[in-house]
Amino acid sequence: MQPTAYRASILTFTDDPLQGDHALTYEPDGLLVVDAQGMVAARGSYHTLAATVADGTTIRDYRDRLIVPGFIDTHVHYPQIDIVGSPAEGLLPWLDTYTFPAERRFGDPAHAARTARFFVDQLLACGTTTAVTWCTVHPGSVDAMLGESRRRNLRMIAGKVMMDRNCPDYLRDTAQSAYDDSAALIARWHGTERQHYAITPRFALTSSEAQLDACATLAREHPDVFVQTHVAENLDEIRWAAELFPAHRSYLDVYDRLGLLRPRAIYGHCIHLDKADRRRMAETGAVAAHCPTSNLFLGSGLFDFAASDAAGLKITLGTDVGGGTSLSMLQTMNEAYKVARMGGTHLSASRMFYFATLGAARALRLDDRIGTLAPGAEADFIVLDSAATPLLAHRAARAQSLEETLFALAMLGDDRAVAATYAAGACVHRRDASGSAS
Ligand code: GUN
Ligand code: ZN
Repeated sequence: MQPTAYRASILTFTDDPLQGDHALTYEPDGLLVVDAQGMVAARGSYHTLAATVADGTTIRDYRDRLIVPGFIDTHVHYPQIDIVGSPAEGLLPWLDTYTFPAERRFGDPAHAARTARFFVDQLLACGTTTAVTWCTVHPGSVDAMLGESRRRNLRMIAGKVMMDRNCPDYLRDTAQSAYDDSAALIARWHGTERQHYAITPRFALTSSEAQLDACATLAREHPDVFVQTHVAENLDEIRWAAELFPAHRSYLDVYDRLGLLRPRAIYGHCIHLDKADRRRMAETGAVAAHCPTSNLFLGSGLFDFAASDAAGLKITLGTDVGGGTSLSMLQTMNEAYKVARMGGTHLSASRMFYFATLGAARALRLDDRIGTLAPGAEADFIVLDSAATPLLAHRAARAQSLEETLFALAMLGDDRAVAATYAAGACVHRRDASGSAS
C-alpha cells in the first residue's frame, strides 16, 4: 500500500460531547496521513501538515467532504438480512414466524458464505467498518462471517448463537456442544488478525441452566473475549423470563449471577430495566446496545436515555437488522434522536456521532485501535457527502454550524451519504464505483 494523505474536513472525538465542547476535534481543512501499513501517521490542519508529508505520498482531495472514523454497529444479526422488514405482532411471534426459519438455512455453508459477502458489502456501503454481529447456532456461520471479514481486512466481532431450549429442534445445540463449538471458534478466530469472538447466548429464555453455566465457564476461561446477548427488550419476553427464573431479582440478574456482566459484554436493547439494573451495568462495565429502528419496528418500547445517562451506563447504537429496518448508522441516529425526544432528552448530533464512533470503540475497549483516527491507530474511516441528495444538499447548504450539518446528515442521510469507506487504509467501498471496491 502506498502512503496516502486525505484532505477533507475531519471530525473526531476525545470524549463524550456531554462533557463539553472540548470533547470534539474538528479541522475544517484537515489532512489525514495514512502510512503504508494502513495506520494513521498524522492528523491535523492541512496547512500545518502538508509540508511535513513524506515524498511519494499521494494526496487525495476530498475537500468538500467530511471524514469521520468508520461507524461501529454494536448489535446486528447478519443471517437476518434475509428477512429485514418482516412485520409481526411483537418479538416472540417474529422470532417464530421469520427468524428461526431464516436462520435454519445457515446450516448450508454456501448460503452462509453468500449472505456474509452481501452483508459485508452492505455494511461498508453504510460506512460501518466494525460490527458486533450475531451468527446462527451453526459454527460454520461464524467461519463464513469472520472469513469474509478477514478477506477484506476488517475489524469485526462475531459469535455462534447458543440455544438449547424453547426453540425449534432444527436450531438446537446442547450445553456441551455449545461449549465445545464456542471454545473451538475462540481458538480459531479470537485475535486472528483483526477478528474477535463473542460468546453468544441468544437470551436467557433459550438456554437451559446447564447451558448458561457453560457460558459462564467459557466467559471465565476467556476474560478478554466479548459476550453478547439480549435483555429487557419486550414485555412478554420479560414475563416469560420471570416464570423461568423466579428466584432472580430481575431478568438482568440472571446474567449478573453468572458473571456475564463485565467489560466487553454487550446487551441488546436494555429498554425495560430498573434503576438497580442500570447501576449494575454501569458498575460492571457492561455495555447497552440501543437499537431504535428495531424497537420501534417490533413495538418493543422506548429506550430511556435520561435514566441510562443518570446511571452512567455505556450507551452504544445497534441496527439490530433484521428486527431493525436499516443497516445505516445515520438512519439509526435518526430514530435514536426521536426516541430520546419522546423521553424528553435532546440528543445532540455530535453525541450521536460519538456513540457511533469513539463511544462504541471505548465501550468495546478497542479505542487503542479504532474510533479515534489518532496517530498510531488503524485507518478505518469514512468520507461523508452532505450533498448526497438534493434535499440533504439543500439543508446542509443552509447549516449555520457543524452541529447543524451533522444533524442534517443524521436525519436525511443513509448509505447515499457515504462517498467512500476505508479499512486499514484501503478503500473497501466507493459509492460511485460500479460493484464492490473489494
Ligand atoms: N431476542 C432473542 N433473539 C432475538 C433476535 O434475534 N432479535 C431480537 N431483536 N431480539 C431477540
Ligand atoms: Zn438482536
